[in-house]
Amino acid sequence: MTEGAQTPRAADGFTPRVFSGIQPSGNLHLGNYLGALKRFAEPLDAGVEALYCMVDLHAITVWQEPDALRHATRELAAGFIASGLDPERAILFNQSQVAEHAQLAWIFNCVARMGWMKRMTQFKDKAGKNAEQASLGLFGYPALMAADILVYHATQVPVGEDQKQHLELTRNIAAKFNHDYGIEFFPDTEPVIEGAATRVMSLRDGEKKMSKSDPSDMSRINLTDDADTIAKKIRKAKTDPEPLPETAEGLETRPEARNLVNIYAALADKSVEQVMAEAGGKPFSEFKPMLADLAVERIAPISAEMGRLMEDPAEIDRLLARGAERARAIAHPILQRTYEIVGMVGARP
Ligand code: AMP
Ligand code: TRP
Repeated sequence: MTEGAQTPRAADGFTPRVFSGIQPSGNLHLGNYLGALKRFAEPLDAGVEALYCMVDLHAITVWQEPDALRHATRELAAGFIASGLDPERAILFNQSQVAEHAQLAWIFNCVARMGWMKRMTQFKDKAGKNAEQASLGLFGYPALMAADILVYHATQVPVGEDQKQHLELTRNIAAKFNHDYGIEFFPDTEPVIEGAATRVMSLRDGEKKMSKSDPSDMSRINLTDDADTIAKKIRKAKTDPEPLPETAEGLETRPEARNLVNIYAALADKSVEQVMAEAGGKPFSEFKPMLADLAVERIAPISAEMGRLMEDPAEIDRLLARGAERARAIAHPILQRTYEIVGMVGARP
């Protein structure tokens, strides 16, 4: 608590606003699509403003080849658009084009405590045994993430399970800032973690998350895979020898079967119970072709559209620049007001 801080004002009602970020580090897959991209249009359909950011500044907390980073950023933008996000409705942009993220992150570096950061499991996982060799950016990663969200006063953040701890830290940073400066300036941010496919598992191992870092390409369906590749990966997906159970309860002890049914349900926009009513009792020799047809029907057009968009990188860059401009219009006054609260001379809210 800063000495002489004023009594906190009553919290203003914050307008609902959604923010989420994805790192442009290559290989968008079915897990990203079902767990994140596909759900990103929902707030817009409900009339809520939404910003989706390619977090290139986060990506370089570990080494990225510059050309590969540029390619991955454009490919991620293409993936967003091809998955059905209309860039006129959603605000789509890359993080480095809106300087306010990094500027607010510095303020938050001075709010967050070393002890809070040291508890972050993602840092421990990514830095591994050699923490002394990790970048300072990797350690400070969650303060930049808090800035991404709070520079828009975002109230809801759709993410996967793995980001829960970072969002808790975001709330702690907002609360400490508000407390220290005696003002209810930053909102409480809620994580939105829901849906049948918040954890799509590997096609080779039903106990492991589908991931871009899995060495086996057969473990995942990439959004850039063509129809034949998608069908082949599903045909070869690991399963047990039994047919599907009759009911959803029967899936509990069968991770591979459960994963394929969850994927089917998410792709078909059905509940697991509905899928079991259709497919319960079928052998995999029947269920896999059903799933392959559905996956091809849903994913192949996305892959084709991504390919088409990637043929015109200048157009993608134009869309990202336009998104950045719209994002800046929201972020700039919030950053300037933050500077004013903190006591920076020359702040212009
Ligand atoms: P990442 O590629 O790990 O940075 O994740 C980008 C987004 O996709 C985040 O919102 C993740 O939670 C989500 N995501 C990544 N992998 C999966 C998966 N296997 N199942 C569901 N969601 C996932
Ligand atoms: N840390 C997130 C991930 O690895 C990416 C991210 C960066 C993010 N900034 C964000 C997610 C802000 C939500 C909100 O997936």
